Amino acid sequence: MELILDTADLDAIKELDGLLDVTGVTTNPSIIAKSGHAPEEVIGGLVDYLRPDQKIFIQTVQTDFDGMMEEARHICGIRPENMYVKIPVTHDGLRAIKAAKAEGLGVLATAIYSADEAFMAAMNGADYLAPYVNRMCNYGDGIGQVVELIEMLAVQDLPSKVVAASFKNADQVHQLILAGIQAVTVPPAVALSMIDHPGTQIAVDEFTTNWKTAFGRTTLA
Ligand code: G3P
Repeated sequence: MELILDTADLDAIKELDGLLDVTGVTTNPSIIAKSGHAPEEVIGGLVDYLRPDQKIFIQTVQTDFDGMMEEARHICGIRPENMYVKIPVTHDGLRAIKAAKAEGLGVLATAIYSADEAFMAAMNGADYLAPYVNRMCNYGDGIGQVVELIEMLAVQDLPSKVVAASFKNADQVHQLILAGIQAVTVPPAVALSMIDHPGTQIAVDEFTTNWKTAFGRTTLA
C-alpha cells in the first residue's frame, strides 16, 4: 500500500518522511492556498525535498478543458518522473483525463464522490482515483462505496489504483487498509494519530524507570 501525505506543510512532510515509509505528497488548490506561501514556492519546496522516487500530485486550477490540459502539461513537466496531475471528475475533467492519458501524462482523478464516478475515470485511464471518503460519508456510506470501488476495479480488471482521500480519523483509514486499498493520502494529524498510542510512551517510561532502579543508569552497557 502507498502511504501519501495530503499536505503542503513541508515541516510536517519532513518529520513524517523520517518516521514512516512515505510514497509521496498530494496537494490541492485549497491546501496550497492555506499554506501561506506562493504556489511556486510550495511546489518548488516539494520538488527540492522529495526524492525522485517519491510521487508529487498537483491539481489543476482552471476548470475548462483547454485550461486543464495546459496546466496538466505544465505540472507533469516540472520534473521528469513521478509527477502527477490531479484532475477533478467534472465533464471537462473527464475529457481532460482521457486526453492527458493519451499524451502519456501521469493522472490522478480527484474530487470523486461515488464509486461510479471513480469507475468511469478508471475507464478513461486514470492512474489513480481519489474518492473523498469523509465527504462521501455526508451523503451515505463513504467507506462502503470505496470498498465496492476496490472490488469493481478487480472484477473488471482495471489497473487504476484507489488513493482514498479526505480522511478525518484513523478509523476510516484502518477500515480501508483492511479492505485492501492500494493507497491512502492522509493529513499529518491523521498519520500521527495512527502511531501515537499513549500506551507506547508509558511502556517505554516504565522500562527506563525499572532499569534505572535496578542498575542506577539508563544505558545498556
Ligand atoms: O486532497 C484533498 C482531499 O483529501 C479532500 O480533503 O479534508 O478537504 O475533505 P478534505
